Parts: sequence; structure tokens; C-alpha cells
Amino acid sequence: MSDCGGVSRDDHTNPAVRRLADWDAAMLDDLAAAHGTPLYVTDLDRVKENCARLRDAFPDAEVRYAVKAHTGRAVLETVRDAGLPAECASAGEVHRALGAEFSGDEIQYTAVHPPAEDLDYVVDAWREHPDLTITVGAADTVERLRERGFDGRLCVRVNPGVGAGHHEKVRTGANAKFGVPYDRAADLVASASDEFDLVGIHAHAGSGISGDDLANHRELVRRMGDLAREVSAAGVELEFVDVGGGFGVPYGEDEPPLDLPAVAEATREAIGDIEATLAVEPGRYVVADAGVLLTRVNTVKETPETVVTGVDAGMTTLLRPAMYDAYHAIRNLSSEHRETVGTTIVGPICESSDVFCENRPLPRPERDDLLAVGNAGAYGYEMASTYNSRPRPAEVALSGANAALVRRRETLTDLTEVESR
Ligand code: LLP
Repeated sequence: MSDCGGVSRDDHTNPAVRRLADWDAAMLDDLAAAHGTPLYVTDLDRVKENCARLRDAFPDAEVRYAVKAHTGRAVLETVRDAGLPAECASAGEVHRALGAEFSGDEIQYTAVHPPAEDLDYVVDAWREHPDLTITVGAADTVERLRERGFDGRLCVRVNPGVGAGHHEKVRTGANAKFGVPYDRAADLVASASDEFDLVGIHAHAGSGISGDDLANHRELVRRMGDLAREVSAAGVELEFVDVGGGFGVPYGEDEPPLDLPAVAEATREAIGDIEATLAVEPGRYVVADAGVLLTRVNTVKETPETVVTGVDAGMTTLLRPAMYDAYHAIRNLSSEHRETVGTTIVGPICESSDVFCENRPLPRPERDDLLAVGNAGAYGYEMASTYNSRPRPAEVALSGANAALVRRRETLTDLTEVESR
């Protein structure tokens, strides 16, 4: 599907990408002054735009939001109002979705080797919300659901044998951990349909798919189309075929955005004729460019190789660079016009992986400068931790002209609150 990797059509009201350069520096500066740093800023209007673009591109499909990308209440409510159901990966995510008032039929729980507590919680939730759907990735999980008395809406996650994604660590499609092996899936679907309300089949290639990698996604979709036809020929009526999420976003300043309508068209083509609704479940695409991380410079150290710039955010605030060598655009909001120097931006964590960028040409940094890190809306706050006993940051959500503190900054007291002594 490399034919889908081109630049998408320009729409001034809802552009295919919002770049870090498009954010209003004065507004971000005010927010940092009011709430301190590090600070996540999430633009709910952009979340809405991303939902709208997805729905426009996939008018006949069900577009679900993979909530793991950003589970904040304000984001969940925005997505729900935009009409996207929630795909949840844990009891905690189901709990959050219910809290944000998604109805049972808007909740899809995808069990990944689920701990007993997760199954207990979700089966209890199902008794109250009998329309929710549970997706299983192993025959064993079917057995564990049966033991708990569940006989509701079931979907089978398949290992399609083909993966895709921006990094080895996020390619799931060919990883044995995920899904029922492709050649055993039809049998499991048939046997489970005797006892459960078998509503769908599911597969997910991986996360952050773009460029030539889209060909792998298309192959996954093709295999899922074949499986859907096999299953329906055996007499099982499916409601949906979910081909997962994974739509990439451009992290590089000059990287072109996905041509989403072309990707959608290629997806429809690859699935072929099926008597079920196509479903997709993007996470990153919904929230990535709706978020920035603000951080302030603490220290500037000239070295022979680079200017080492210490900031108050680190791998505990935004893990992606340390974990996946991920590139995030960085902008100095205090001065964009100083001479450019090779800058290595590091956090306060006592670990050499705590680096946002190495020797990147940026305006010469000075202490107290405010920096913005782009595309921080997806898997940003979600993967934050308290390693080195650093409290997690605050988050502000923007909506129209309003800016509301939606997550307060954690305190040192929060860190020890759950300990018994
Ligand atoms: N569906 C399933 C079953 C998934 O496992 C995932 C992501 C998604 C949908 C959504 O994928 P998306 O549209 O967001 O690419 N922390 C990593 C990404 C891990 C994604 C895990 N699963 C990162 O920061 O790149």
C-alpha cells in the first residue's frame, strides 16, 4: 500500500496534521506560567477534528478509539461525544470508559493474558451492561470466561501472522503472545458460537504504521477478509471484522501525514466482500497531535561534543524517546531566533537512557527557557511513571477559549500515600 503513503489533501478547517509549529507560543507560555512545568497540554478541539477525519474516511465502518493512547477523562468524554466507542485493554480502562459514561454497547474489552481480577471485574460489569463485548486471544480465556458464567458478546482475536509498526516493540501481528493462531481461529469461532454470542473477529498488526509498512497492514486485512468468509461459510454470522488500529502520524517536522482516505479505500478493497461491518480501532491517530509537553530548562552545560541541556521533564514524563528511540519535534518557545547549536536534551533521571534528543540543531538554550515537545498526546501521560520518586506532571485541557486543569500535579506526599508504613 505504498501508494497510500502520499501527502493527504489539504483541508483548512481540518488539516491532516497539526505541527508543533502551529501551536500558539504565547498561549503555551501563559499555561506554563500558570500551572508550572512539566505540563501536558491537550487540545480537545483537535481530538474532535481527528475523530471527524477518521469517521469521514471510514463512513461505512465502525471507528473505535483505543483508549490506551490517552485515558484522561476529558479525552474520553470528547471521543464519546464524537460518537466513537471505546476499545479497552484492561479492567482499569473499562472502569475509566464506564466512568466517562460510554454505554455497554460502546465498550469493547480486548483481553491480553488477563489477570483473574480483570476478568472478574469485566464479567461483573457485563452483568450490568450486557451489551459489552469481550475479545479473547486464546481458547484458555474462553474457558476462564465460561467458568465465570459469561455467555455474552464474544469476539476472537486472531494472530494473522503479519505485523507492522514503527518499532519492533510495538509489532503485534506476528507475535505469538497475541491472538489465536490463524489456522486454528475458524475452529475456535465455530465452537465458541455454540455457547456465546459470537459477534466478531479481530486482529491488530501493530502501532505507528506508515509508508511501505502499510503493505503489511493491507495483507493483514486481506487475511481477515478470507477468515470472515470462511467463518460465514461455516454458518457463523459475524457482526463485525475488526482489523485493529495502528495508523501512523508524522513525528518528523517534514514527514508527510498519512493519506487517510486512501488508506481507508485500500482497507475496504483488501477486505473484499464480507457480510459484516468493518471496524478499526486507532488510538495514536486520535490524540497524538492534540498534545504537547511543556518543559523548562534547568541547566545548560557546554561540552566539546554538544550543549547538554537539562530540562524538568524526563523519561518518567515522556518515555517514548528512551523506550523506542522515538523522534519528537522540540521547539524553544522562549527564543526561536538565537544561533543554532547542536543540543542534547536530557531529563533529571539518573539513567543514560533519559534523553529526548542528541545533538539536534536548536536555538542556543538558556536556563529557564520554555521548550515544547510535539506529538505528546498519544502514549505520553499514559506511560509516565514515578521512577526516581518523581511525581507525575499536571495536564491542562483546551476547549475553545477555555483552559482547564484536568489533572493536578502529583506531590511528594502522593508518592508515599499507598505505602502502609
Ligand atoms: N488495538 C490494539 C489491540 C492495540 O494493542 C493497540 C495498541 C491499538 C489498537 C492502538 O494502536 P494505535 O492506533 O495507537 O497505534 N506505546 C507505544 C504504542 C503501543 C501500542 C499498543 N497497542 C508507543 O508509544 O509508540
